[in-house]
Amino acid sequence: MNDLSPFPLPADFRWGVATAAYQIEGAAAEDGRSPSIWDTFSHTPGAVAGGDTGDVACDHYHRWPEDLALMRRLGVDSYRFSLAWPRIVPGGDGAVNEAGLAFYDRLTDALLEAGITPFPTLYHWDLPQALQDRGGWPARETAEHFAAYAAVVAERLGDRITHWATLNEPLCSAWIGHLEGRMAPGLTDIDAAVRASHHLHLGHGLAVQALRAAVPGAQIGVVNNLTRCEPATDSEADVAAARRADGHTNRWWMDPIHGRGYPEDMLAVYGVDVPVKPGDLETIAAPLDWLGLNYYFRTVVADDPDGPPPHVRPVDTPGAPRTGMDWEIHAESLTATLRRMSEDYGAQHLYVTENGSAYPDTLGPDGQVHDPERTAYLEEHLAACAEAVRQGVPLEGYFAWSLLDNFEWAYGYEKRFGLVHVDYATQKRTIKDSGHRYADIVDSHRRHSRRAA
Ligand code: IFM
Repeated sequence: MNDLSPFPLPADFRWGVATAAYQIEGAAAEDGRSPSIWDTFSHTPGAVAGGDTGDVACDHYHRWPEDLALMRRLGVDSYRFSLAWPRIVPGGDGAVNEAGLAFYDRLTDALLEAGITPFPTLYHWDLPQALQDRGGWPARETAEHFAAYAAVVAERLGDRITHWATLNEPLCSAWIGHLEGRMAPGLTDIDAAVRASHHLHLGHGLAVQALRAAVPGAQIGVVNNLTRCEPATDSEADVAAARRADGHTNRWWMDPIHGRGYPEDMLAVYGVDVPVKPGDLETIAAPLDWLGLNYYFRTVVADDPDGPPPHVRPVDTPGAPRTGMDWEIHAESLTATLRRMSEDYGAQHLYVTENGSAYPDTLGPDGQVHDPERTAYLEEHLAACAEAVRQGVPLEGYFAWSLLDNFEWAYGYEKRFGLVHVDYATQKRTIKDSGHRYADIVDSHRRHSRRAA
């Protein structure tokens, strides 16, 4: 333990930043990349704020050497990014696109050369549209195609990459994409949503098998966005609503990968069949090497019998501080969620794979971005990580979301999460005050750790 660091965290704590392919890469139609469901969704009138799309985004596909240089300036030792399935297997299954693989090959080599550990995620929501046209995640075959794509990538990069994540936040793919309709593919159908959730789980389990077969010694995990769900009042109805919100947000995603199957109470809430075939639950529960937590806010809910499953509505806590996403800032819930992963699910190796905040930043007359709220958010949440470690949670690293301002899905470019500001008109990058603070924290932690060793 490094007690001299501003945040007492293990001496070998990993310090990282995170991004995702569709949010930063751009080059949507270059070098053989095919459209994904997010290209389709973002080009649908009215789907994304301001009509924004990921066509150009941060142009990272061309500017990645500059972005790597930014990572070096921040001093991070790990980089979590996602691989674009539509760049690598444009049809979703079948032919492999060499140019797509070559892009990640170059990036991997350059990261390693810079002493930065690559942490790729295989799927961060950009399903090839060709597979959506054949049924998408509600169709079982999509899980099988996902595993085949995982095998292609592992074969190519597995000689250099050891840390892998299968899925990012499958909750968003299934619930927000198929039930709430606020994300691609934009459906509002509980049956499709539950089917999608099962095939995402199955795809995860099959991809774990593919990675293990191709990469001896691979360190494989999955990334979920979990949080504490609390009742707005202590009425019986609200307490039951919070229990349903917890099932929908946390247990539906954690129980199956821990061999507990789907939570019975939620099967009753959804009221549709889960298309489980013999052997699926064992495949889904394949042992993992680590778990990732993406944490942003806590959830407070009231009963909403007329709303869609899980029949809850969010309630704002009066006076609670909120970010530019209107998300409540509640760092104690990060500690509590990490504790739950360790105590209730027995996690032995945990990472905070995303954490961060959006604010409407602007470049000041001095050419800098002064973002004290983001710096405060960062510090409060790192303190919450340190508190979790003090309480015995095996937390091994933290990835700030995000390296760059980027395409924030249905919110477009209006919401800025970066430690680095991006001027989208010129693509000029400027490290924000919060980025400089993060660099100081990382540097000081490392120096104190070296001194203590
Ligand atoms: O931008 C997203 C990211 O893609 C997934 N996790 C939450 C972030 C902020 O909304």
